[in-house]
Amino acid sequence: MLDNKRILLIVAGGIAAYKTPELVRLIGKAGGQARVILTRAGGQFVTPMTLASVSGDTVYDDLFSFTEESDMGHIQLSRDADLVVVAPATADLMAKMAAGLADDLASTALLATDKPVIIAPAMNVRMWEHPATQHNLKTLNARGIRCVGPEEGDMACGEYGMGRMAEPGDILVAIQSFFRTSDRLIGRRALVTSGPTHEAIDPVRYIANRSSGKQGHAIAAALAAMGAETTLVSGPTNQPDPAGVQVIRVQSARNMLDACENALPADIAVCAAAVADWRPADEASRKMKKEPGTAPAPMALDENPDILRTLGAAGNKRPGLLIGFAAETGAVVENAQKKRLSKGCDWILANDVSSQTGTFGGDDNTVHLVDKDGVENWPRLSKVAVAEKLADRIAMTLEASA
Ligand code: CTP
Repeated sequence: MLDNKRILLIVAGGIAAYKTPELVRLIGKAGGQARVILTRAGGQFVTPMTLASVSGDTVYDDLFSFTEESDMGHIQLSRDADLVVVAPATADLMAKMAAGLADDLASTALLATDKPVIIAPAMNVRMWEHPATQHNLKTLNARGIRCVGPEEGDMACGEYGMGRMAEPGDILVAIQSFFRTSDRLIGRRALVTSGPTHEAIDPVRYIANRSSGKQGHAIAAALAAMGAETTLVSGPTNQPDPAGVQVIRVQSARNMLDACENALPADIAVCAAAVADWRPADEASRKMKKEPGTAPAPMALDENPDILRTLGAAGNKRPGLLIGFAAETGAVVENAQKKRLSKGCDWILANDVSSQTGTFGGDDNTVHLVDKDGVENWPRLSKVAVAEKLADRIAMTLEASA
């Protein structure tokens, strides 16, 4: 049951909009309250009158309507909701969300909201598969926005493929499952490290690695979506900040350690960063110049602090559940088992980062969860799905020990 949860439903302009009165009806039947924003294009496919009669409320459809702005402005609309659902989410509205555009009531409410958002995309298969839409989807996922559908099937335009909006019943299931999980980590503090570190050689050069930060950022987003007060300490990446997460940006391993120690105490810590193991022993204050015909001087390296090991040995400040990753290119599980013991952490997520796996920088990951009882092999999943599965495991473990 939805227990009077308030859902702001944004209906954009796609043929699938005709299914939204059924969604509003199902939300009401499940005990929730739906309030509707209808875009101008959405109004071509479903009437405000139909949506108003099933929701029992005004349908909001015009950013510049003075009465609506004074009664219920776009800020208030999003503030009053427990969850925002965009169905159908058209290619155009997804692009606006990704870019942060706000030129009508729907896009303005989406930009103004700090509430969780679920989108149900619906569009022609070619629009869905277009690199622009896929890029926007990744941006939205990385911000912690959840997606239900689309499905494969016959389309209104006569084509066949991915792009049909999920059925109203499936959207309701996604809404219910969101509310079932959204408070599981409330009251818990989580710390996540992500991305590479940059170790300065001189003012323009540095030592780094191929980590994209996708996995660590997705984990921070998943923990925050379950209600954890989450701090993400991230090295330099191109990932957008996940919704509802405090992000601390750092450059070097030593900066990362300082930021992590300042973020303690934590109930949960997940070290997903690919921290550089070594740094140049002497950082040159000026750009190092080459001498033509002369061999470069060998570079002396110092060992960096090991953040995971430091947290594992932090005595009464040790996070209650400490989780590390093991990036391996061979003997993946055996090495992970050794790392779990040597770093004093509870779980290790071991992954094969050999170049043929495409894990570093890619969107998918195959991980093995190693704990004191043994190994669990997870199937190949998207990094977002790995993050959600991990967050679910964390919540289950904390619930069992509460
Ligand atoms: N880690 C860390 N600080 C470091 C090095 C690693 O916190 N200076 C953490 C990583 O975030 C990860 C785990 O330790 O959770 C294992 O990292 P990995 O790169 O697999 O192993 P290393 O400890 O660097 O060992 P090696 O490179 O020898 O495999």
